Amino acid sequence: MALEPNFLLSWIFLCIAATISSTLFFFRKKQHKFRSKKLQQPKKKLPPGEMGLPWIGETMEFYKAQKNNRVFEDFVNPRIIKHGNLFKTKIMGSPTIVVNGAEANRLILSNEFSLVVSSWPSSSVQLMGMNCIMAKQGEKHRVLRGIVANSLSYNGLESLLPNLCDTVRSHLDTQWRGKEEISLYRSTKALTFTVVFECLYGIKVELGMLEIFERVLEGVFALPVEFPCSRFARAKKARVEIETLLVEKVREKRREMEQEEGGERPNTTLFSRLVQGLIKGEITEEEVVDNMVLLVFAAHDTTSYAMAMTFKMLAQHPTCLHTLLKEHVQIKANKGEGEYLTVEDVKKMKYSWQVVRETMRLSPPIFGSFRKAVVDINYGGFTIPKGWKVLWTTYGTHYNPEIFEDPMSFNPSRFDKAVQAYTYLPFGGGPRLCAGHQLAKVSILVFLHFVVTSYDWSLVYPDETISMDPLPLPSLGMPIKISPKVSL
Ligand code: HEM
Repeated sequence: MALEPNFLLSWIFLCIAATISSTLFFFRKKQHKFRSKKLQQPKKKLPPGEMGLPWIGETMEFYKAQKNNRVFEDFVNPRIIKHGNLFKTKIMGSPTIVVNGAEANRLILSNEFSLVVSSWPSSSVQLMGMNCIMAKQGEKHRVLRGIVANSLSYNGLESLLPNLCDTVRSHLDTQWRGKEEISLYRSTKALTFTVVFECLYGIKVELGMLEIFERVLEGVFALPVEFPCSRFARAKKARVEIETLLVEKVREKRREMEQEEGGERPNTTLFSRLVQGLIKGEITEEEVVDNMVLLVFAAHDTTSYAMAMTFKMLAQHPTCLHTLLKEHVQIKANKGEGEYLTVEDVKKMKYSWQVVRETMRLSPPIFGSFRKAVVDINYGGFTIPKGWKVLWTTYGTHYNPEIFEDPMSFNPSRFDKAVQAYTYLPFGGGPRLCAGHQLAKVSILVFLHFVVTSYDWSLVYPDETISMDPLPLPSLGMPIKISPKVSL
């Protein structure tokens, strides 16, 4: 039986109307349920602070302060004064809570993975690689951290010291000897790059390698836009060059290790431990390569800046230099010509390490870093909402007079006493504590030893400013006048 066209139309109309009204009824009910659930929930109280302009928020104020190396003076401190230790803002497109103080640092840093996860800009992750340790969480982070941190622990470094001493001596012979003036910052950058490649990877640094790596590092915090000639595009191109080089080295090393009986050797370098992990199937080739790139990034600008700033502080505080020198003269007096420094010698550099610590308290190579809340975090009567960024800073404690008396003065002896946990954080803390902090310590102290016992130096520009791009750097490269030490 054929249906009447009018009847068919009314039937279709009726069906559509029924569908619409039942859908509306369903959504109303859901909305009602959602509203009443929302009413039952306690209202989230956000910390005080300003979100700035739509979309960009307070990014311009933050960038400007960062560029002038005045993040504390011009961004963090005025807000601490106005709002307290916890304040909200919006930077780089993300609503962010900035936390300051030992208690807040402990909460954020020690609860990595359960309350927060490390949150790096997309450009950093793309250039370091999705498989590097800083982008990993949970079990994968644990495995990678095990390989990296074990090789860089104090025990692991014992076998590295002769190599490190040779690298520093050779650097001074080729870059300092016979010169009257050098750029200290360029020198420390070249040295830390060589330490990672030659001491940790056993790969000889060839001409042009440092420049390619520096092109990658220049893009790590750049806007991730790939216009031809943009910083990020240049960095990505350099990353491809590095990857080609490293993949070749990893495969070569793998072949070499597989040919060796059992594939294992005592006294392995960090590189061989990574390749061993690859052979055992614990990590992939991409993970080996990405972490090799990351370690250069993590070690390079940080250690070189800490070294350069330590020399600046010593030049400006002759009595500290005098005390420090006594320590090194004594160590040198007990050494034969050309003899290597040992872990025991490094342990004797107690005052020198206090000088370095005080330098990093005042001039931290990394002033803090971002996390992302993975749950709502209730702290101090406020809520840090899930999904928001959290920025912890060294400034909130390093420059706090209640924690460090007369905080802006340079006083290495303040470290005669132990400091309260989570107040001194140049290396961060918690599960993401710097995996290379022991290597950084040993490299800085060994370099100090060979320089202060062989050279006199003075700053060419004592008032040279520090800029940030985005990590701090001496704006003129810290030129110094040098002359061989006549007597100790
Ligand atoms: C003075 C020198 C150094 C300073 C000030 C420094 C500082 C830091 C800081 C603050 C963090 C934590 C970042 C965060 O919480 O998000 C970190 C992480 C890290 N650092 Fe260093 N670092 C230095 C040298 C080195 C060196 C020499 C290496 C290795 C060759 C290294 C390898 C790492 C690694 C692998 C991580 C990531 C750890 C993880 O995610 O589990 N760092 N560093």
